[in-house]
Amino acid sequence: MTRAAASWIAGPGGEVSGEASVPGDKSISHRAVMLAAIADGTSEIRGFLDGEDCRATVAAFEAMGVSIERGAADRLVVHGAGLRGLRAPDAALDLGNSGTAMRLLAGILCAQAFDSILIGDASLMRRPMERVAAPLRRMGADVRSNAGRPPLTIVGGRTLRGTAHLLDAASAQVKSAILLAGLHAGGRTSVTEPRPSRDHTERMLGTFGVPVTRDGGTVSLRGPAALAAARIDVPGDFSSAAFLVVAALIAGVAPLVIQGVGVNPTRTGLVEVLRLMGADIRLHPTADLGGEPVADVEVRPSRLRGIAVPHQYVESMIDEFPALFAAAAVAEGETSVTGAAELRVKESDRIAVMANGLAALGVRAEALPDGIRIQGGPVTGGMVESHGDHRVAMAFAVLAARAFAPVVIRDVQYVATSFPGFAATARGVGLALAEEG
Ligand code: S3P
Repeated sequence: MTRAAASWIAGPGGEVSGEASVPGDKSISHRAVMLAAIADGTSEIRGFLDGEDCRATVAAFEAMGVSIERGAADRLVVHGAGLRGLRAPDAALDLGNSGTAMRLLAGILCAQAFDSILIGDASLMRRPMERVAAPLRRMGADVRSNAGRPPLTIVGGRTLRGTAHLLDAASAQVKSAILLAGLHAGGRTSVTEPRPSRDHTERMLGTFGVPVTRDGGTVSLRGPAALAAARIDVPGDFSSAAFLVVAALIAGVAPLVIQGVGVNPTRTGLVEVLRLMGADIRLHPTADLGGEPVADVEVRPSRLRGIAVPHQYVESMIDEFPALFAAAAVAEGETSVTGAAELRVKESDRIAVMANGLAALGVRAEALPDGIRIQGGPVTGGMVESHGDHRVAMAFAVLAARAFAPVVIRDVQYVATSFPGFAATARGVGLALAEEG
């Protein structure tokens, strides 16, 4: 996928308040398509994130013979092929920018009768894949990487066996790939994590009729396990809401309410951390969608103080660090993060890219091997590079509200991977954001 380079001119100023909603959850949308595609029968997905990452997942299953009808942009009808019904794709499957798509698909594809090759864009082709390839091999799969990176070449026709896995680091992508392979394997597959990672796969498997057992830090299922078609309602993406939350805290003039946001506790570490910094954030529960709790998130403008972010929150806010760093840049005193080396292998090296961008705006930021130290203070205008990372671009768009002069953010086109319509939503809540190019 190629995109024309685009920039934003953000801030200065902005008076945030009112109401907003965000597109569907990315993690849940990927999983909904994947499980529906290998289920028996016809599934309906509502609230689907019509962003480029999830479109790549849809296209991959279409290339494997699954019929997927689009209703409105956020409604999909998936005619499941069953556990053994996928067909060999004619070409390599291109997952664009999406690490989740590539890693979770590896779990499904390693159990198929056919061979497949997984590729992606320049960012994805640099990301580590042995973390999924190695455990899948232990189950009997033949998954080959290019010195640990994509392309992933997956040789079909292997018989998988249920296996117990002990992960060194918590990762929902690795856990999910193993569980998806476990659906096709004989016997019990289990994953033990040192700390809980997001558990959408486990919850959604239950909705598709496959029970997943949790015992302490271990989740397990028994295969082979057929899935029954289901209806999935996808809540708003907390990771997208996070940018609006920070905007309301640092540039708010009155409360902002973000409606219908998924607040699965494995995702909301940012709320806890911002509260420790002095934020007034209230979650008003509204629904339970297939085991996923949903709430309206009310945020009031707040004075923030820097803190040392407790390690216990790292996994449950792993995608929210760029947003947190924007908050930290205008908090009183120092915010420090350690134990988050994983940020270096996200869509960009988020430690280096954020530290450089903050420095370009006059904020004192020191990159650490596994985190960052940020001294809150005045923010100048300037030019920052997002390095094609959607969350970096959105973090600076929010921070610009507190800058003294406009902030030019380059390479923002990748925001469409997770938050199509961000610029309009940002303007709708009161941020100043102009699009260019
Ligand atoms: C995701 C898991 C996380 C997260 C990613 C989405 C998922 O990655 O950062 O954006 O949907 O399972 P890790 O599993 O590498 O922690």
